[in-house]
Amino acid sequence: MSDPRPIGLFDSGIGGLTVLREVQARLPAESTIYIGDSARHPYGTRSDAEVRRFSEELSDELVERGVKAMIVACNTATAVALEHLRERHPAIPIIGVIRPGAAAAALATRTGRVGVLATVATVRSRAYFAAIKDENPGTRVIERAASELVPLIESGLTSAREISDAIHAAVGPFLVGDPGARIDTLLLGCTHFPLIRGAIVEALGAPIAVVDSAVATASFLQEVIAVNGLETPGSSRGTAADAGHRGHTAPTSEPVAPVHQIFTTGDPVAVDALAVRLFGESAPRTRQITLGSNRR
Ligand code: DGL
Repeated sequence: MSDPRPIGLFDSGIGGLTVLREVQARLPAESTIYIGDSARHPYGTRSDAEVRRFSEELSDELVERGVKAMIVACNTATAVALEHLRERHPAIPIIGVIRPGAAAAALATRTGRVGVLATVATVRSRAYFAAIKDENPGTRVIERAASELVPLIESGLTSAREISDAIHAAVGPFLVGDPGARIDTLLLGCTHFPLIRGAIVEALGAPIAVVDSAVATASFLQEVIAVNGLETPGSSRGTAADAGHRGHTAPTSEPVAPVHQIFTTGDPVAVDALAVRLFGESAPRTRQITLGSNRR
């Protein structure tokens, strides 16, 4: 069985492109559709009801565009709306970024003390706290909200100098007290934050592992695609359900060249600048889209 339909991803803005990058690296034959809701970012300081409504609109748009699987490439939307979206679209697998990130952090810590830097809404949901405790109940989870970083990143101010003060203020509380009792792992619980990873590492200035959910989420997606027999035609991988037989050695059918599309509700030029940085000159040009009640 094979399925040429694209994989859909959405975020409140450009942050989810960090997840898209890992998805394309891990599943290079698959087509993708990305939608960033930059016109309405940030989500992390909004009410749960608003985040849920916007997430509905984004997921509906992706389903209308025919995706075969979806990643909610936004921690805030995952924390607030994942279960709801799964009920709304039962026919396609929908993956969030919180469980994969929690697993990565729980496996990275050696001292059992994990810090989570996320948005106000994600911290309020306690989703990371619960997911990390699920992985390892003995882990100490210290969560901090840093929603103020999101608009700075969204506006392109990602150079260490421009955003440095805000980053120092955000990570400073993780560095107070007895060094032997501090966190040894910091989980970037917002998909925007990997875009300033270098500056965060510099501000920490200590041997603290910095992890995010992008790689773990892409690897989980690969598993979900395989188990569901959703691999694109021409894929030479077997599925977990059918451990190979011909699948490992022979393409399931004629390969289809992957097509990548990026949409934004905001300014396409701003998104293009980042897309070229992440994907190179071959990045598709970003197109503007309207969602929900603003639709034509
Ligand atoms: N990138 C998003 C997240 O992972 C949301 C940031 C925001 O819009 O506040 O939480």
